[in-house]
Formats: sequence, C-alpha cells, structure tokens
Amino acid sequence: MERIDAAAHTRGESQYLDDMPLPGEMLYASVFSSPVMHGKILSLHTEDAYSLQGVVAVLTSKDIPGENQVGPIIHDEELLASSEVCYVGQPVAIVVGTSPEIAMKGVKRIVMNVTELPAVTDPKEAFLQGKIIGAPRTFTLGDVDTVWQNCDFIVEGACDIGGQEHVYLETQRARAIPLEGKSLRIHSSTQSPNAVQRYAAKILGIPASSIEVDVKRLGGAFGGKEDQATPWACMAALAAWYTRKPVELVLRRADDIRMTGKRHPYKSDFKIGVTKEGKILAYEVKHYQNSGATADLSTAVLERTLFHSTNSYFIPNVRIFGVCCQTNLLSNTAFRGFGAPQGMFVMESAITKVSEKLGIPREEIQEKNLLKENDLFPYGQRARYCHIGDTWNKAAERYDLPKIRQDIEDYNQTHFETKKGFALMPVCFGISFTTTYMNQASALVHVYTDGSVSVSTGGVEMGQGLTTNLVIAAARAFGIEGHRIKIETTNTTRIANMSPSAASSTTVLNGNAMLRAILQILDRLKSLIIKELRVPDKDKITVVNEKVFYDGLETGWGWEQLVQTAYLNRIDLSAHGFFASPEIYFDKTKEKGHPFVYHVVGTAIIEVTLDCLRGTYDMSSVKIVHDPGRPLNEHVCRGQIEGGLAQGLGWMTMEDLRFNEKGQLLSGNLATYKVPDVYFMPDDIKIEFLENGKILGPYGSKAVGEPPLMYGIGVFFALRYAMLAFKPHKEFTFASPLTPERILLQLYSEYLNK
Ligand code: MTE
Ligand code: HPA
Ligand code: MOS
Repeated sequence: MERIDAAAHTRGESQYLDDMPLPGEMLYASVFSSPVMHGKILSLHTEDAYSLQGVVAVLTSKDIPGENQVGPIIHDEELLASSEVCYVGQPVAIVVGTSPEIAMKGVKRIVMNVTELPAVTDPKEAFLQGKIIGAPRTFTLGDVDTVWQNCDFIVEGACDIGGQEHVYLETQRARAIPLEGKSLRIHSSTQSPNAVQRYAAKILGIPASSIEVDVKRLGGAFGGKEDQATPWACMAALAAWYTRKPVELVLRRADDIRMTGKRHPYKSDFKIGVTKEGKILAYEVKHYQNSGATADLSTAVLERTLFHSTNSYFIPNVRIFGVCCQTNLLSNTAFRGFGAPQGMFVMESAITKVSEKLGIPREEIQEKNLLKENDLFPYGQRARYCHIGDTWNKAAERYDLPKIRQDIEDYNQTHFETKKGFALMPVCFGISFTTTYMNQASALVHVYTDGSVSVSTGGVEMGQGLTTNLVIAAARAFGIEGHRIKIETTNTTRIANMSPSAASSTTVLNGNAMLRAILQILDRLKSLIIKELRVPDKDKITVVNEKVFYDGLETGWGWEQLVQTAYLNRIDLSAHGFFASPEIYFDKTKEKGHPFVYHVVGTAIIEVTLDCLRGTYDMSSVKIVHDPGRPLNEHVCRGQIEGGLAQGLGWMTMEDLRFNEKGQLLSGNLATYKVPDVYFMPDDIKIEFLENGKILGPYGSKAVGEPPLMYGIGVFFALRYAMLAFKPHKEFTFASPLTPERILLQLYSEYLNK
C-alpha cells in the first residue's frame, strides 16, 4: 500500500492550517520581541502602534488574565516578558491588526527601553558562573577511578557540537476562534494538543475543558513543535480572548528561525581507557549542554544524552556527567534524537581518537566493543533483543566491508588532491519517553451503520506516516478494507490528556490504544454472531476480507450485514481504548531502572570523497542495515530512514548556526543556513532490513522516527578519515558541523595568521 496521503499531498489537496477557510472578521497577530540578549525592561511604549490604522489591540504581560507562565517542566518561562529579557527574540508584546502586514507594521512602532545586563553564550562559562538549570546528573557503572591504572592506553579529548534548526516546511502558527461563552477553539500546528490546551487555559485563567484544540496535520515538526508550538498558540488565544474575534498568528520564516529554539549545542570532555587490543575498559564523559535561556525540555533532553552516551557499546566502567547550562541564547528544545545524537557523537569521537593514537582501525575497536545480549547499560537495563551485532555483521558482509576499505586505501594511494574516507556508524536507540508517565495513549473508535469507521487518537500526523500506519493496523484488526477507515483530526475534546507525538512512540502508543478499542467492538460483534449463528465458540470467529468466518469456514455474513444487525440489536458500536507501556520505570535517586520498552538498532556504512584543495566533499554512498521489526508499511519506514539520515548528515556537515557577539543569529535565513537537498544526498543509498520481529508495536512493528538520524553521525568520521589521508599527522578537532570551510581551515591551519 502507498502512503495514504501521497496523492493528495502531491496534488496540493491535503489541508494544513493555512488551507482552512478563513472565518469572518479574522484578525492577525504579530509579535514584538527583545532586541537584546539580556536586560531589564525600563519601559515599554505601545501607543504609536495603537495609533496605526487597523491595529486593534496591543497586548503585554499585563493583559494576561491568568498565569503568565509556559515553562513545560520548570516554571521559568513567561509567555510575554514582564520585567527582564534573557535572549534576542524573546516575545514581549503582541500586536493584533486587521491584516498580517498591519500587525507587523505595528510591531515596528513599539519602543522598549532596557538596561543591558551581562550575558553569557558559552555553556562551560555559564557552568563556571553557576548558571545551571535543574541538578547535574551522573550515571555510573563499575568503577572508572580504579580501572584507569589497568588500561594500556588512556586518551582524552573535547568535543564542540553544533545545534540545528528544524526547518519544518510549515512555520509555527495557530488560529484561535472564540466560541460561545468563555470558551475557545484553537487550531495549532503542534505535536502536543494537550500542552496547548493546558497552557492556553492557564494563561486565560479558565478550565482546560473550555479550550478545544484541533490538529489536522503538520507540515513537519521534528521536535520543534513538541512544546515550542505552545506559546504561539497561547498568544493567538490571548488575542482572540481579548478581541472576541478569530485571531491567527503565523511566524514568517525569518521570525521562526530567529525566535524559536533549536537542537542543543554541547561542549563535552571525554577520557577513554583501552587495552592494547582495543577493548574499552573505562569511559568518562562530561556533557555541558547549552540549554539557552529557559529550561524548556532541556532537562529531559540531557537525560537522554546520558542514556545514550555509550551508544551501541558495552563498557564495564563508566561515569557520565551532564549538566544543563543556562545561557542568553534561544531556548533550545526537542529535535529528532532528543539529546542522543550528542551523546553518541562524543562516544564516536573518543573511539576515533583511540584508533588514531593506537593505529587500530576505528571499526575494529567499534566491533570489539559492540553490545551483546544481556549486557548492562549504565542505567541498569540489560540489552534484550538488541541485535546490534547482527546488523553490523550483515552490513559488513552484504556491502563487503573489506573491499570498501581496500578500494579506499588504493584510491588514496594513487590520488593526491582528492581523498576518500569511510566510517561505520552503529546506532542503538531506546524507545519510550524517558519520562515514564508519558508512555500512555488513548483512542476512540466509532463504527457507523454503513460499515465505515472513524478513528480518533492522541497522535499527530506530522509527515511521519502515522495516518498510514493507523489505517493499516485498523483495517487488519477489523478484517476490512482500508478505505472504510477514516483517521480524524487530533482533538482534545475527543481524546483527553494525550502525550505529545514524540519519542518515536506515536504509532506504538496510539496504535495499541486504537487496537484495544477495536478489540472491544469486535468482541461485542462476535458475541452477536455466536447468538445469531448458534455456534459455541467466540474465539473461532474471524473477520477477513470483510467476510465473517467460523472455524475457518465462511458463514455467509459480510461486514456491513454484521454491523447493521449489531445496530438493530442495540449493540454499542463505539469504544475507547487505553494503552500504557508495561514494565518500564526509572529511579532517579539511583539513576537506574528499565526506562525503555526495547531498543532500535542498525548499522550504517558511509563513504565520502573529499576535495582537499577546496574543502568540498561528496557523499559517495550510505549503506544501512536497519532493524524495523515488521514494518506496518515499508514506504513509511524507508521514508523515515532516508529523512532521518538526511537530517543527521546535514547536522554534521552543513547546518551552521552562527551568532554574533550580540547574540543575534547570523545564519538566520535559508540563504545562509544550508540544509540538505537532493543534490547533497548520496546517489547511492541502500537500506536493508534485518528481520526478526519484536513485540510491543502494533503487529510487531518497531518505532522508526528518530534512530536513523544518528546514522548521519558517521559522515563526520568518514570526512576525518579523508582529512587524515591527506595530512596524516595533523591534529584535527572534534567540532561540528564539519563544513567545507572548517575542513579547509584545518587542513591548512599552518598558513593562517596565528
Ligand atoms: N518525519 C516527518 N516527515 N516529519 C516530522 O516532523 N518528526 C520526527 C520523526 N519523523 C518528523 C518525522 C520526530 S522528532 C519524531 S519523535 C517522530 O517522527 C514522531 O513520530 P512517531 O512517533 O510517529 O515516530
Ligand atoms: N523524547 C521526546 N520527548 C520527551 C522524552 C523523550 O524521550 N521524554 C520526555 N519528553
Ligand atoms: Mo521527537 S524530538 O521526540 O519530537
């Protein structure tokens, strides 16, 4: 089956928020934000904006009837700054006008006087100044301190990891519509309708039940709308509340890039101890996360960094330290991988440095230390059904690793100005929200008398293929054709208290909730059948291809007849299903537990060709062996792997966030902030599936959304291999992104003015 939305997407018929018909009398909001990194607000002058023809309202923190607070984990984030601003782009006031252009003009007329305060942008410097968010965390396994002396070699190093802008095609936006009495409906481009509902209610000082949030689909999110869609929806809600008119707030691309959080940059120090054969005995790492100005989801992101700091390897003695450092930059947030990519990058850097110092090939050290069944992760969980070695071996065999290595060495022997490089990248990613209680979902299923089916879940379609997955699973469970299944908008009046669609868990959680609802309805239908047909055993009834079977024999009953008879017999054709992932827990006081339902694994081999005169490079091929379980839909699964890979490659190579000393983003538009395109991607992408099948997802499917991003990390080390082939004895940094500029500056650093 194709992706269910492919044709409509291609024809431009799919409806996004922007395609919804405009309500009458709609107003438009635009946001005035801080021009400085850090300052005390002395005065705010909005009169000039008000006097503009077409401006209906200018709203500040004083106009918030409820609580001026949108911090999702720690309450440290005002919707509109009241007395202090902490980063460039922080919202301070909202102008509401009769057109978006008028509202934007109004914003330009606002004058804010501030006394500037000292600002910090470097995470380590912030840490030294005591500017941290939450408590530092440390995971330990074994005893690193006593094991250093048993190591044949100890290598230390530092990483400087860049952030990443989400570049979802659809920028942040929301439309709020006043309803009867003191209630509102909000259409928001959010991964978390529940968060929008809760925070809008809090901002307005009304019950959550007075707010209905409705989401059809998002034009991409990638974590950027897990919780950073909430403030914009709250601002639209506030404006609609105040004006009693529908209000839309849409961020222009430049404003979206300038005002929203990104993937967290990290500075990390590592120390790794190995035997002379390359067995890793001890690993110590300190992660200084650049959290930005407010907590946002930073503490949860840091936690996942800690969980994935040893990636796919078993290391008996480990100490992993992490801290969220508060700086005066944009508040960084969820981004596909949620902290894991940074943790894995440092691990790979440490292995690479060992390999370079010892002259053992990188992949030999990697392979020697791969996790085996029942190995212990530093957080106390054991590796189960964790076939990382199988994916590694299959990749090495299928794609002929010895030949890849030989061909590259031969090429480098005979070429001077271009060099080739390669790297293997194993990935082991834990599935579940690391915040245990979030691993729950519910669904509402109706069967109508004509046999058509309506499915509501708490899951949001953001391009990841949730809708296709749900249709396939629902059709299979009922035994009917997919065209009968309609996946409804995600709506807080139909589904309460949903977790955000995130952590790669949307299909797992919501699909299972849906199946539980379907099973209830099927059970009632089967009870009816045994009565009607006077047969004894309910369990022998199946519905396949819209036909009812008993003990494998056709009964002559079809789906529509079954449903109609059930209705006439006054049988409930609706059900609510609930699912919570079993057997997961985590004890933060001990930093041990069983946080993940399972791990997704795979191995990538990445080959590059580097132009050593220009610093430019070409990705020759990426070859992947991935364990998808039994995917519900192969197109969706492959699409996720390719898309994740593209984002990972971009993060490591070309996506360069540069701020000036005033904290202003220099690469704040798509002319200066480069993202992968079809020319950048390798022509030769091969994806093989490892087959084994695993438990918790609907019909044995596994989560796939985030893990493939981390295959992209390999490109950094492939490029480094090529750089070393050109300048064998040079010291290169572990600083990302490895842009052509950065490569060139490192290859020829001796010619730079010191
Ligand atoms: N794919 C598309 N096309 N668009 C997206 O926004 N988000 C990613 C991933 N793949 C995303 C995507 C992120 S960050 C996550 S957590 C998962 O999809 C969320 O969806 P899932 O839980 O259904 O995998
Ligand atoms: N992933 C995404 N979002 C989250 C997580 C996670 O692991 N934990 C809490 N929020
Ligand atoms: Mo994805 S970063 O968990 O939204």
